[in-house]
Amino acid sequence: MKITIVAGARPNFMKIAPIIKEIKQAKSNGSEIEFRLVHTGQHYDKKMSGDFFDQLGIPNPDANLECGSGTQGEQTASIIKNFEKELLQNKTDMVLVVGDVTSTMACAITSKKLNIETVHVEAGIRSGDMEMPEEINRIVTDSICDRYFTTSLEANKNLLLQNIKLNKIHFVGNTMIDTLIQNIPKIKKPVFWDSMNLKQKNYFILTLHRPSNADDPKKLNKILKTIENSCKNYHIVFPVHPRTSKVLNSIDYNRNIIKTIEPQAYHEFIYLIKNAKSIITDSGGITEEATYLNIPCITLRNTTERPETVNIGTNELAGEDPLKLESLIGKITNNEWKKGKIPERWDGKTSKRIVDILIRTYLRGN
Ligand code: UD1
Repeated sequence: MKITIVAGARPNFMKIAPIIKEIKQAKSNGSEIEFRLVHTGQHYDKKMSGDFFDQLGIPNPDANLECGSGTQGEQTASIIKNFEKELLQNKTDMVLVVGDVTSTMACAITSKKLNIETVHVEAGIRSGDMEMPEEINRIVTDSICDRYFTTSLEANKNLLLQNIKLNKIHFVGNTMIDTLIQNIPKIKKPVFWDSMNLKQKNYFILTLHRPSNADDPKKLNKILKTIENSCKNYHIVFPVHPRTSKVLNSIDYNRNIIKTIEPQAYHEFIYLIKNAKSIITDSGGITEEATYLNIPCITLRNTTERPETVNIGTNELAGEDPLKLESLIGKITNNEWKKGKIPERWDGKTSKRIVDILIRTYLRGN
């Protein structure tokens, strides 16, 4: 069985790495399973892509579609056009897509239009917020795939509501947590740790990249001012996503408190999270990592597609209200944050479950 695995943007890389390892393992144990890795090129900087391949031991892609920057429409169109060529030239039995980025949706559409079996890892999550490009990607992808691997029972429910048959849905856990568990022994202090005077729990990590926060200078300014005023006595370490850096240059903020740094490679980033007092973010993946590592996390969004990070984990939503953000930061600095637990099946064995199911279903036919 030949599987074409797709990766396009930063949060995809930690989701495919452990699946690739398990496929290699199954092959060396005698299963007739192999993969071809296709990078769409949606994220292309070394800091957004190459560093992750190096650190996570992901092999060089067999093909790079080089569909970089552009509007949502331009990116989608160029990925579909180039991925179709790729699939016509390289026969495959299955396409495996992960996550909810533009590459996920565009490649699922391309694959299904060529009648290729298509499976989605991290299926079924929903924020209900149709202004997020990712929500559209999730709904479209989940409406056309053939098999779905989920991170939670809530995601199973969402898929059932979309009339997907129960026997096509597998609650397997979270491949990002597989990567986290495998890499904890390898995490490393970033080079600026000492010069920035960082110590365990004396800083917050801030990440922002959602169009709703990062594209509007006024809104970004308001968020930064609230954080500056509330996180007194703490450093704010802010790895800046390329999308956000364009707007950040036009904003006035206190550079003595908010210390911007480049996007970090995986091992350095997890080191920063693991030792932080808290995280303030608009990412989805980081809320899962914070939950696993039991670090308080404030999400600057009104909704989340990962409710288990709030109900079970360490995450709370601040929405867009500066007063709410201020009061949540106060809870953290006063050491009054809730204790989280680790959600079911976030145990490091998710990729093995996925590959076992693929072998059982498609190779052995049961
Ligand atoms: C994408 C995903 C989002 C994910 C995020 C993580 C979609 C719709 N969004 O958002 O789900 O959480 O990645 O990073 O797919 N850029 C660079 N260098 C790069 C990559 C991008 O400079 O290596 C620039 C692009 O030119 C663009 C901007 O960053 O102007 C945004 O990139 P884009 O791929 O459109 O979406 P993200 O905001 O990164």
